[in-house]
Amino acid sequence: MQIIRSIRSMQAAARKIAGSGKTIGLVPTMGYLHRGHQSLIVRAAKLADVVIASVFVNPSQFGPGEDFKTYPRDEKGDIARIAEALGKKKARTAIVFAPKAIDIYPDDFETWVTVEKLSQTLEGKARPGHFRGVTTIVAKLFNITRPDVVVFGLKDYQQAMVLSRMTRDLGYPIKFVIAPTVREKDGLAMSSRNAYLDDLGRWEATCLYYSLRTAREMVRSGVADTRVLLREMKAVIKATCPSANVDYIAFTDFKTLKPVKTVTTGTICSLAVRVHGVRLIDNLKLA
Ligand code: PAJ
Repeated sequence: MQIIRSIRSMQAAARKIAGSGKTIGLVPTMGYLHRGHQSLIVRAAKLADVVIASVFVNPSQFGPGEDFKTYPRDEKGDIARIAEALGKKKARTAIVFAPKAIDIYPDDFETWVTVEKLSQTLEGKARPGHFRGVTTIVAKLFNITRPDVVVFGLKDYQQAMVLSRMTRDLGYPIKFVIAPTVREKDGLAMSSRNAYLDDLGRWEATCLYYSLRTAREMVRSGVADTRVLLREMKAVIKATCPSANVDYIAFTDFKTLKPVKTVTTGTICSLAVRVHGVRLIDNLKLA
């Protein structure tokens, strides 16, 4: 596996791979990899000849007062986990792209990519400027690595939708794949931020998935009114994690992200909850 830090070298390596007729699968990450990230890497390896995993804690997608400084970092561990996911043969040709922030964002950087409307709801409303940072870094990664295929996780559902729209709108010739959420045994969606939780917080963090499961069960038994679902979800969260702070619980159409009052095919529920001070997100398709 090759570790590349300079943009120039990454561009040259990507050109060489494409020149030899091989396809590139890109998996952008912020590191501190877990089995969720590994599943994306495995998927990319199935769909492309050469896998590039980027590891970059992107400062521009963190708001003031958010956890950019404390975001967990473990480059050595990340490289080992990428190799483990790929197996010996694919790991040999794989590339880890880990650029420096000053190269990605020089001091006079001033060009941004924005997906206007989709970026404004849910996470975008709760974290102003977040998606502008995400779309800008991912567009830069697309330009630098020239992938044929990219894989993102459904865990960050709105992010996947925003980036898929950007890919189409800007005409990138890239196959856009969204992979399912990988969960811990008790249902908690894997996340690098789970590392912030202490034992009690870790246990109480199951409230997100429990509430989503409850909503899906209710939908399966015939309830379609989102107000009823919302009330019950809040009760489940309160019962599992009394100190939880619900940031939002939203019922939207999967593709358009427009809010719905009644659950129909394609309705997804997404939520953001602060558990013991740690902001966690999750989602589940309800029908
Ligand atoms: P990060 O949080 O490191 O996630 C990288 C990718 O892994 C994203 O596509 C995310 O949706 C996916 N992922 C995270 N947890 C997952 C899980 N439990 N199951 C499946 N996939 C999961 O998302 C980002 O980084 C950044 O915003 C990035 C796109 C890299 C831009 O900086």
